[in-house]
Amino acid sequence: MVKVLFVCLGNICRSPMAEAIFRHLVKERGLEEQIQVDSAGTGNWHVGKPPHEGTQQILTENEIDFSGLKARQVIREDLQQFDYIIGMDAENVGNLGRLAGHNRSVRIERLLDYVPHLHVEDVPDPYYTGNFDEVYQLVTAGCKQLLEVIIKEQSLK
Ligand code: 4NP
Repeated sequence: MVKVLFVCLGNICRSPMAEAIFRHLVKERGLEEQIQVDSAGTGNWHVGKPPHEGTQQILTENEIDFSGLKARQVIREDLQQFDYIIGMDAENVGNLGRLAGHNRSVRIERLLDYVPHLHVEDVPDPYYTGNFDEVYQLVTAGCKQLLEVIIKEQSLK
């Protein structure tokens, strides 16, 4: 089983959106028995809460299931458990790197580094911008490319 963890700050806007979109893409490919998806936040303010209304709305509009999603905080063990740890912005990646400490075997990446042609490095935080549509477009593009890379790297069929 390949394990993918999406990480943002609060785990209520961007990373749950990425989790839902990525799971949807995985299902479309019939890979749900081979790829496990989760998300978490570096902060703990919203632990236990469902996704932000804006995230719920855009996912509903696009017929992407997000049932059961609840915010949680990332823990050090996640870094051992997950094969792909994908931050939404440079701050998330920095915080994850500090959590990993000297453990060099942990693979931590930024989602939009998978889609360099978009020339956007960080997924903007819609908690502050209010622009969930922009986030949906960016996260979808990143997730599609990430899935292609995982399929190739892990020789999934
Ligand atoms: P997210 O957005 O990291 O995309 O879930 C945020 C949600 C909450 C806060 C910040 C960002 N907050 O400061 O409470």
